[in-house]
Amino acid sequence: MKRIRIEGEHKLQGTIRISGAKNSAVALVPASLLSDEIVKIDNIPNISDIDALNEILIYLGAKVTRNGEIMEIDSSSIVNKEIPEEISKKLRASYYFMSSLLGKYKHVEMYFPGGCAIGARPIDQTLKGYRALGATVIEEGNRFTIDADELKGAEVYLDMPSVGATINTILVAVKAKGETIIENAAKEPEIVNVATFLNNMGAKITGAGTSTIRITGVDYLGSCFTEVIPDRIEAGTYMIAGALVGENLRIENIIPEHVDSLINKLKEMGVSIKEERDAVTISAAEKMKGVSIKTLGYPGFPTDLQQPLTTLLTQCTGNSVLEETIYENRFQNVPHLVNMGASIDIDGKKIHIHGPRELIGCEVVATDLRAGACLVLAGLKAKGETRIDNVEHVLRGYENIIEKLTNVGAKITLEEI
Ligand code: EPU
Repeated sequence: MKRIRIEGEHKLQGTIRISGAKNSAVALVPASLLSDEIVKIDNIPNISDIDALNEILIYLGAKVTRNGEIMEIDSSSIVNKEIPEEISKKLRASYYFMSSLLGKYKHVEMYFPGGCAIGARPIDQTLKGYRALGATVIEEGNRFTIDADELKGAEVYLDMPSVGATINTILVAVKAKGETIIENAAKEPEIVNVATFLNNMGAKITGAGTSTIRITGVDYLGSCFTEVIPDRIEAGTYMIAGALVGENLRIENIIPEHVDSLINKLKEMGVSIKEERDAVTISAAEKMKGVSIKTLGYPGFPTDLQQPLTTLLTQCTGNSVLEETIYENRFQNVPHLVNMGASIDIDGKKIHIHGPRELIGCEVVATDLRAGACLVLAGLKAKGETRIDNVEHVLRGYENIIEKLTNVGAKITLEEI
């Protein structure tokens, strides 16, 4: 098991460069299988979720070279075989392979994907998309066998704008016959990144980034190059660190529009932010006031920043209310923050945070990726030492977090226990 130790109360000064977006990269890598030629992806983050996808690529017989941030994938020699459960359960994004293989070979055998335990996370909308395009899905426990004589474009209305179901439906539709229309599609920037990647290969996708996406199937997808967009959740996490303990902390290589909802909430709290074309600079404010926040799909406030933001809300004066509308179990960070001195009540889908409260370092556990990020932020602010166990979760999604924070003045170490 891995543990992070943080000595709190050190000011963060300097620049943090944001890496490629985890939630884009984890879709682009499996999407590369749809090409019959070599594809090249730049700005790939060095995180363990990408290592897990790389393992699947190699298991299937793809030739992969990774050179720093560039990944080159040649899947011309892959074999369409069942992906074992030990690999697919490592991460949620493994199900993008299910869609790419189905789209390419019209047959796939795979197990239910893994991912952070933050709610039920069913895949019914993805399966609805497969069925609408003509596939037969056989579910035996958590094992799926999916077949289609022919994949035919269709109209797919998603019951909720799910990121995963939107990307999965695109992946199955790009080589289907005729036109697919996805209604109530998710609008996250990562979906636009995936659609651009596929269009660069020769796909015909329009409307990504809006709630109606149209895909006209093509027979052949060729070589292409694309870049992963900056990680808006990593950026948001470090922006919150800036608001907690920053002194002109500059977060660069971001698309400010992608973190607009956070910028607006920070301003509402009283944090001053200097915005540039691809960077923001943030310092901790003398005094911040509590706010109300509700998580929503993009461009609303992202659920993935809800837990990191909770740490900041413990420092605001007055009561804050945070409502989680996407996942049922995304407050597992709360008892740990309370152990550190926060005053938070859980009330169904909402939490009420009463502040400001002094945070004091103690031993806590990262129950999931963003809960871990929340506790790292708490450790940076807290008096004394914070020890966070189970930080494998954090390393799944934050590239070089120890180095990035150390470079701006944090006292943080990673150890194997
Ligand atoms: N949902 C269904 N049925 C489905 C699909 C989703 O009911 O078929 C529900 C889920 O239960 C959940 C909600 O819809 O309540 C959102 O699920 P979604 O499919 O959008 O989530 P996802 O695609 O599995 C991605 C990110 C998450 C991020 C959400 C934001 C990846 C690999 N994961 O998840 O990222 O929270 O979108 O909607 O892109 C993270 O990075 O920490 C993370 C969890």
